[in-house]
Amino acid sequence: MRHASNAVGQLLAISLIVLVVTIFVLYNYTVPSDAMDRYMTLLSVMLFSSISYGQTATSTAGGATYTNPILDSMGADPWVTRHDDYYYMTYSTNDNITILRSNILTDWNNADVKLAFSPPVNTSYSYDLWAPELHLINGLWYVIFTADVDADSPSPNQDMLCDFTCPAVNHRMFVLESTTSDPWESDYSMKSELDTYDQFAIDGTYFNHSTGLYHVYSCWEAQYISWPSMLCISKMSNPWTVSSALSERAVISRPDQPWEKTPYNRTVNVRLSSNEGPEQLVNPTTGQQFIIYSAARSDNRNYCLGQLELVGDDPMDPGSWQKYTAGCVFYQNPDTEVYGVGHASFTTSPDGTQDWLVYHGMHDYLTGWAARTIRTQQFTWNSDGTPNFPRPGIGPYNVPSGQPVGGSSSSSTVSGSASAGVSGSSGSGSGVGAATSPSAVVPGSTAWGAWRPSYSSTWKTTWS
Ligand SMILES: *[C@@H]1O[C@H](CO)[C@@H](O)[C@H](O)[C@H]1NC(C)=O
Ligand SMILES: *[C@@H]1O[C@H](CO)[C@@H](O)[C@H](O)[C@H]1NC(C)=O
Ligand SMILES: *[C@@H]1O[C@H](CO)[C@@H](O)[C@H](O)[C@H]1NC(C)=O
Ligand SMILES: *[C@@H]1O[C@H](CO)[C@@H](O)[C@H](O)[C@H]1NC(C)=O
Repeated sequence: MRHASNAVGQLLAISLIVLVVTIFVLYNYTVPSDAMDRYMTLLSVMLFSSISYGQTATSTAGGATYTNPILDSMGADPWVTRHDDYYYMTYSTNDNITILRSNILTDWNNADVKLAFSPPVNTSYSYDLWAPELHLINGLWYVIFTADVDADSPSPNQDMLCDFTCPAVNHRMFVLESTTSDPWESDYSMKSELDTYDQFAIDGTYFNHSTGLYHVYSCWEAQYISWPSMLCISKMSNPWTVSSALSERAVISRPDQPWEKTPYNRTVNVRLSSNEGPEQLVNPTTGQQFIIYSAARSDNRNYCLGQLELVGDDPMDPGSWQKYTAGCVFYQNPDTEVYGVGHASFTTSPDGTQDWLVYHGMHDYLTGWAARTIRTQQFTWNSDGTPNFPRPGIGPYNVPSGQPVGGSSSSSTVSGSASAGVSGSSGSGSGVGAATSPSAVVPGSTAWGAWRPSYSSTWKTTWS
């Protein structure tokens, strides 16, 4: 809304001039009544628009509402945590680990930016740094992220071994450790690679349970059985060490539902089916434990969130996990032109009373990974204790409860300092996308063509 007041002022000034001219003309000349009617209609529309636009601008500037996206530049795989009086965000920049800091959740364009880590060249973690997360564990901050050795360009000697084309075959998981308990003032250094048995591993996260700490990540069945990607779990002895042997590693979810494949219910091969982006979510009232993950395919409109609930005692036992099979729990919304929603993380309002998800979504979904931008919305809980996610949209929505009015990001300076930038060519996973109609999750729609929305070329990428 940075330019809103100018526009309002101009519209108001023009309206007033037109009003004065009208009165002058009415006073001095005889004007045909139908021309006068049209004239007065135009005048009231102009006055009404300037007044209502002015009201919107004022309430937004006052911190009452926000719109999505919350960061003007491209951004994918957002991860947000709240600590003391700040939100910290990190996301896939491809080349480094960048941390953003803001005291408000709903506008990151003027956030503080910190380069936490820039990898040296020619290491196993030098390229394609994706899906970083920042966790406070035992007084230090750990950045868990995926990266690879070859920028998604395996040699033909390796590629030939894969069942399907496998650009991401050498992605592995890594952990950085902070020097202090302060996420902003700390330096971060490479602590360890996480053991994923020399197999594909992306989107790893920590799962904290009363029985210990676990690594949950997106995996393949074996080194060269490329796709589908599944969710694997292994036990950890500390935030940088996996203690399970490969024989103990368990698969807790496979993309076996029609809405986890793309196109919907694809049967001919599994290359475009995935389970990735797992995140722990705990119901603060009931203590129920969930893993919310992303399904289908990150480069197209069908990417969505799926849900696993821990219903048994042992997270390493696949039988302890129950998938919500009726469909995605958060998915594209043609009515608001928001597509390909996924890779969510969870935080709270500043006063702790509300739960919020931060995710990426697309408007121009034909553009694939490059179309992703970062968004946030409040969610609530169902009576059975499961999360009740909203439909994805643009807003305006009310800002989080307790969010400071005129927070650091609502200053009138245009800086764009938070645009860490993302290479458009990569994302979580790789390959060629395809479109589908998840009829199971979009009530009343059966065919892809039936609910394909009109494509608008006038989409705004900035919301100033
Ligand atoms: C990259 O690392 C490998 C293995 O350590 C080494 O053989 C190679 O010379 C290095 N290449 C460059 C460009 O530094
Ligand atoms: C796990 O959660 C418990 C309860 O919130 C907390 O005390 C503990 O520090 C957490 N452990 C890790 C490793 O994050
Ligand atoms: C998915 O495809 C299979 C094989 O064509 C078919 O038997 C099944 O009914 C389909 N399921 C749904 C939900 O469309
Ligand atoms: C981090 O990487 C992004 C993407 O290449 C780049 O735009 C940004 O400038 C980098 N940050 C720093 C501080 O070098």
